[in-house]
Amino acid sequence: MSQVLDAMFERKVKPQEHVIDQGDDGDNFYVVERGLYDIVVAKDNQSRCVGRYDNHGSFGELALMYNTPRAATIVATTEGALWGLDRVTFRRIILKNNAKKRKTYELFIESVPLLKSLEASERMKIVDVIGEKVYQDGERIISQGDKADCFYIVESGEVKILIKSKTMTSKEANQEVEIARCHRGQYFGELALVTNKPRAASAYAVGEVKCLVMDVQAFERLLGPCMDIMKRNITHYEEQLVAMFGSSMDLLDPGN
Ligand code: CMP
Ligand code: CMP
Repeated sequence: MSQVLDAMFERKVKPQEHVIDQGDDGDNFYVVERGLYDIVVAKDNQSRCVGRYDNHGSFGELALMYNTPRAATIVATTEGALWGLDRVTFRRIILKNNAKKRKTYELFIESVPLLKSLEASERMKIVDVIGEKVYQDGERIISQGDKADCFYIVESGEVKILIKSKTMTSKEANQEVEIARCHRGQYFGELALVTNKPRAASAYAVGEVKCLVMDVQAFERLLGPCMDIMKRNITHYEEQLVAMFGSSMDLLDPGN
């Protein structure tokens, strides 16, 4: 950590400044301190904004990790500040850590049903981007109505999903009802990322829980091939809600 901190440098940016241009060689990795940044990907002669960093997150790791040209253009849309880490330091420190991560998570990631259809190299890229978070008994992992920025896979322990139904009246509406439990190898927190809506339910740790966490940018970049499975499962959520509340309106209009 101290070697990374020593090597980092600050870079101030102005609106419309290109921090990274797609196709260039990779020089630095960046962590956002503040500002908004669009992620623009050009494909088949068309440029599309595929996401944005909002005062949070990091980018520019792909070209450095896989020795490939920059995969997207990153444009500041406001004034901002970034912390950069040069390619040599990034590779020396982060890649060593990635090798450790691959050893630790490879077998588990192979066993996750959702990821079964991916190629081995695609699963490896997932291992490279995941982080691990630990939650204590009763701790809230996701709050219904919040803006969503990541996706979770349960590594150990149990997670319960609770929902406040907007279709119920008055005092019943404020009560959370348990609708599901997720165990090792199962995922949650995908719905808001797929539908671009606030979190549809809350998630709490039951006992100590370890989750693998992936940010929304990596989710969109790496889990495209699993999208059909996730979308099919949303139909299952709707059935669950209809069975419990007589309506699945909550999925279309979540909130507190
Ligand atoms: P790199 O290819 O080095 O430079 C552009 C960066 O944009 C890339 O690393 C990722 O960190 C980031 N990025 C975010 N979303 C995407 C995406 N959908 N496709 C490619 N790069 C992305
Ligand atoms: P998201 O809306 O991002 O955050 C809450 C998560 O709870 C949701 O994604 C799903 O992963 C999960 N969930 C499990 N069962 C349901 C259900 N019946 N309705 C909505 N969300 C559910």
